[in-house]
Amino acid sequence: MKICHAALIGIGGFGVEHVNMMQKLAEEGSLQVVAFTEPNVDAHQESYNKLTALGVVHYTNHVEMLTHHPDIDFVTIATPIATHKPMCIQAMQMGFHVLVEKPPAITIQDLDEMIAVQRETGRLCQVNFQNTSGQAFRSLLEKLGSGALGQVEHVVGIGRWKRSRAYYDRTRWAGKLVNDGQYVLDGTFNNPFAHLLHNCLLAAGVEGTPNMYPQSVQAELYHVNDIEGDDVSCIRAIMDNGIGVHFYAMLCYEGSEEPSIAVYGTEGEAHWNYENKLTLRTRKGEEELAFGPVDLIHNMYANLIDAIENPGKPLFSPLEACRSFVLVSNGTYESARVVHAIPGKFMIEQPAGKSTVRLLPDLSEKMEDVAARRQLYSEYPFPWAEPSHPFPMKGYQRFKLPADMMQT
Ligand SMILES: NC(=O)c1ccc[n+]([C@@H]2O[C@H](COP(=O)([O-])OP(=O)(O)OC[C@H]3O[C@@H](n4cnc5c(N)ncnc54)[C@H](O)[C@@H]3O)[C@@H](O)[C@H]2O)c1
Repeated sequence: MKICHAALIGIGGFGVEHVNMMQKLAEEGSLQVVAFTEPNVDAHQESYNKLTALGVVHYTNHVEMLTHHPDIDFVTIATPIATHKPMCIQAMQMGFHVLVEKPPAITIQDLDEMIAVQRETGRLCQVNFQNTSGQAFRSLLEKLGSGALGQVEHVVGIGRWKRSRAYYDRTRWAGKLVNDGQYVLDGTFNNPFAHLLHNCLLAAGVEGTPNMYPQSVQAELYHVNDIEGDDVSCIRAIMDNGIGVHFYAMLCYEGSEEPSIAVYGTEGEAHWNYENKLTLRTRKGEEELAFGPVDLIHNMYANLIDAIENPGKPLFSPLEACRSFVLVSNGTYESARVVHAIPGKFMIEQPAGKSTVRLLPDLSEKMEDVAARRQLYSEYPFPWAEPSHPFPMKGYQRFKLPADMMQT
């Protein structure tokens, strides 16, 4: 059988992970890397050297690259978020399968355009929500589907990390809502904790229905850093099947915790975390499933290659399965209306290597308690928190950034 041929767009930033993975797969003999596009090679010399050492051809324009290499089976798109839609559409219309970084799109209208092209062209489009591919999470979905927890009522996700100023200074679009006139909506749930929110929403679609959409979304957005977007968020999404998804995230946590999801049903509860660990507590007792370290990105490539070679094999993270994520993301901005600045008196700023980091001690200390109560921050209440209203999502088809956010 012919080995899959692949190309990469974007070799810096998170593209480095794709360069390394492609190099690994090429060494394993399961992939031939043919070409890559990167307009700024001077800044990414190490990746450039790795790829050219494999004989991979360099381009500065992805359309030129794809035109010159009709032999490519799939192209990985690891570029800034706003470029995903045009690149995915071009690649699929030119006949290529795609592995695109998350989030696939910012707005539901963009995602729906991408889904329409994907259906028309019959190409595969895997979204690199790599946390969908670990055995512990796959087991969680299976257990939920088989009714191990009875009727699921609530899904609660908690993400607590810290990000220094250097993180926001690393690239022009970091922390922005709009960049070069295009929506970016960079923030907790659209970027670092996108995997967590996406997995929460997949866990809420337990009845074998992958596309479980939100009925309503209520959310609060805040920042402690001087950015347009959020570094503190909470979301309550009520899904069409009545399940409540409660999501809490912060990038100004004093320590660092593995993001985790708890699922509560009428017959028990399940706890999953990024360490590929799943614990079930039901009337039968406690069951712990620890699968150990796993190479999630390898899983995503292997799954796409398998689906290309064996038509009909399901993808871990097809484009369509991201509709719920993008709807909840859009609904979050519709409900929050404003990204509130948390006053300086509530935060502390300290050195972090050559950079600095801002921390929010009261939320660091109390986030687990807020999540256990399934409250929004203004309901808890924190003195810096501002209430929002639920936003109805039925029939929602078009996102436009609330006017107050455009002025930030
Ligand atoms: N899956 C994950 O866990 C994970 C983690 C981090 C980031 N990401 C995602 O990866 C994507 C890229 O994020 P980043 O922080 O690496 O971005 P970035 O701004 O660092 O850009 C990545 C690379 O794309 C290149 N690039 C930009 N425009 C290009 C173009 N038109 N053609 C070719 N190359 C181009 C840049 O020069 C750079 O090398 C985002 O979607 C982000 O959300 C995913």
